[in-house]
Amino acid sequence: MQMKTILRPLIAASVAFAAAGAAHASSAKVEEYKAIDWSFNGAFGSYDKESVQRGFQVYKTVCASCHAVEQLSFRNLGDKGGPFHLDKCPEGVPAGTDCSTPGSNPIVKAIAAEYQITDGPDDSGDMFQRPGLPSDKFPRPFANPQQARAANGGALPPNLALVIKARHDGPDYVYSLLTGYEEAPASVQLSPTQHYNPYFTGDMSQLLKPEYRNAEGHPLDGVEVPLGGVLAMASPLSDGVVDYADEHVPETVDQYAKDVVQFLTWASEPKMEERKSLGVVTMGYLLILTLILFFSYRAIWSKVEH
Ligand code: HEC
Repeated sequence: MQMKTILRPLIAASVAFAAAGAAHASSAKVEEYKAIDWSFNGAFGSYDKESVQRGFQVYKTVCASCHAVEQLSFRNLGDKGGPFHLDKCPEGVPAGTDCSTPGSNPIVKAIAAEYQITDGPDDSGDMFQRPGLPSDKFPRPFANPQQARAANGGALPPNLALVIKARHDGPDYVYSLLTGYEEAPASVQLSPTQHYNPYFTGDMSQLLKPEYRNAEGHPLDGVEVPLGGVLAMASPLSDGVVDYADEHVPETVDQYAKDVVQFLTWASEPKMEERKSLGVVTMGYLLILTLILFFSYRAIWSKVEH
């Protein structure tokens, strides 16, 4: 009896939970994400440094006009594990410089200096522009969210350094989204600021043309509602828009998307490699400890007389 009183609410809760899960699965009608074998997947995974470097170039050339990477400073690019980290200085750098510190890293200094940063106020109270320094944050494309929305048909371009963590299966999702734009299906009517993408969460039944809907606005029987949704961002990438220095790397939407996802994943977790290698060291330590305990246990008990 007592067991039953405990079990009943538990069973009810788990049934409700399962039902909620099923309902969720059926309302999120998006195309299944393309699954990429990312170099950073798994317990031993690490970033592909060259890909992160190219991804930074894609971000800078294409995405930065709309999206911020808020918590990132230029110097992070030269941190250990960062895409432009140097162990030793390249030729031409004065002797005695420690290029492994981001503040003295010549590549990071050059990247920062390409940006104009608003600083101030100066002695007369005015703000002024100066070239960026490694310690500066990446500038945001818009002064405030209102300005960002006004420039983007009312939609807010999210902080890209968080989007990978904020979305389920972030890397596969962002890759699929960037490579997944399609012509809108014939059964829907879109406004010029709506762009169809089968990987974006939405409700396409609201966009069906009138002839596919009944008096209440619901889809007619037998009408298939397209997967995905519409977003305010038009496909940002097209073949050839970014010039890569390495001519062996294809300049395609697919490659740009992979590279920018490597960059954004690094930006969302710059310390991932340290965390993983700490994990491996800890597992090794525990394994050795277990072996020592096991053999000392055997050694001690072998001397006990039966
Ligand atoms: C012209 C401005 C513009 C450019 C350029 C741009 N975006 Fe966007 N992006 C937006 C806007 C606006 C949204 C919000 C869309 C919405 O919610 O309808 C958005 C949304 C997104 C999202 C979020 C989707 C979600 O799940 O909410 C991702 C990821 C994204 N952009 C990645 C990128 C990447 C990567 C680039 C560069 C390759 C890029 N964007 C270039 C304007 C832009």
